[in-house]
Amino acid sequence: MECPSKASLALTGLAVAFLALAMAFHLEIWGRYEPPPALPRVDPSFTNTSTVRTSLAELKRTGGDTSEFACNACHEVGDHARKLRLDEKGSVILPDAHSELVMRHGRSNRNDNCFNCHDEANREMLRTRDGRMLKLEESTMLCASCHGPTYRDWESGIHGRTSGFWKRDLGPIVRKDCADCHDPHAPAFPSVKTAPGPHGLHQKQEKGKFHG
Ligand code: HEC
Ligand code: HEC
Ligand code: HEC
Ligand code: HEC
Repeated sequence: MECPSKASLALTGLAVAFLALAMAFHLEIWGRYEPPPALPRVDPSFTNTSTVRTSLAELKRTGGDTSEFACNACHEVGDHARKLRLDEKGSVILPDAHSELVMRHGRSNRNDNCFNCHDEANREMLRTRDGRMLKLEESTMLCASCHGPTYRDWESGIHGRTSGFWKRDLGPIVRKDCADCHDPHAPAFPSVKTAPGPHGLHQKQEKGKFHG
């Protein structure tokens, strides 16, 4: 009988060794890999880039519901007769029709008088203290009339939020309006929940262990 050559012996040996190895992997005889636990999803409210509120200007731009701002559906234009009712401390008593408003402009409610901002004769207009008439959606210029320094910061991009294009010849920059972040009636910025810290992604993966 012809003796198998050394080479084919070695090859058969190798094939058997690899088969055994494949079997061993298949049967997981050295233990099973346990994947690290799935990372919990971040609450989408932390990654949402929209502002805390939506101004009328933004509603108009995006075709939202502006029915709340149709003041003259109820108020007569040129109706000067009504006077604001004030309590003994001089704070505005909200009429029932507007009881859902929260009035707290300034720490001591210094700017709660409706007619510091809304025009008495035409409620769908704003009126600055120096008598300029503005549309309700032009409220940033109303804020500017009393908050000059903050407005200058806003104009130069230090206050508020700028988006749009850095490269100006590609398109305009957009500055979010004051009323996209501040409620004109209670403008103190609400405190925000802190987002969770970053996941130790690599650390956690290294912790994925082999169990015998
Ligand atoms: C659904 C009807 C309705 C709408 C819409 C409405 N109001 Fe009024 N508003 C009233 C009523 C009713 C009163 C109370 C009048 C009274 O007490 O005699 C009132 C009172 C007020 C007052 C207090 C002074 C006053 O006249 O008594 C202000 C200021 C005011 N509204 C502003 C506005 C502005 C600004 C808008 C639009 C952004 C608006 N209202 C939209 C019904 C409405
Ligand atoms: C500091 C200025 C300012 C004062 C003071 C003020 N308003 Fe306004 N008000 C605004 C602006 C600006 C808007 C439009 C806001 C926007 O773009 O969302 C507005 C919106 C409204 C609206 C529409 C609905 C809403 O909730 O935004 C009503 C109603 C209203 N004001 C009533 C009143 C009444 C009544 C008073 C007095 C008790 C008052 N406002 C005082 C600036 C003011
Ligand atoms: C008629 C003048 C006037 C207008 C118009 C006005 N403000 Fe004010 N604002 C004030 C005064 C007065 C204070 C109180 C300052 C203080 O308490 O030291 C104040 C306070 C504030 C504060 C600080 C609030 C806090 O509790 O610390 C913010 C924020 C603010 N205004 C934002 C706005 C925005 C946004 C607008 C436009 C929708 C606006 N203001 C329009 C006069 C005005
Ligand atoms: C993108 C959101 C955003 C926009 C837009 C924005 N603000 Fe603010 N504003 C803030 C935040 C956040 C604070 C800080 C609140 C704090 O420190 O507690 C603040 C604080 C303020 C204060 C109080 C400042 C102080 O030193 O205490 C005023 C006044 C004010 N803003 C006015 C304005 C005016 C006027 C405009 C528009 C010209 C405007 N803001 C636009 C987010 C905004």
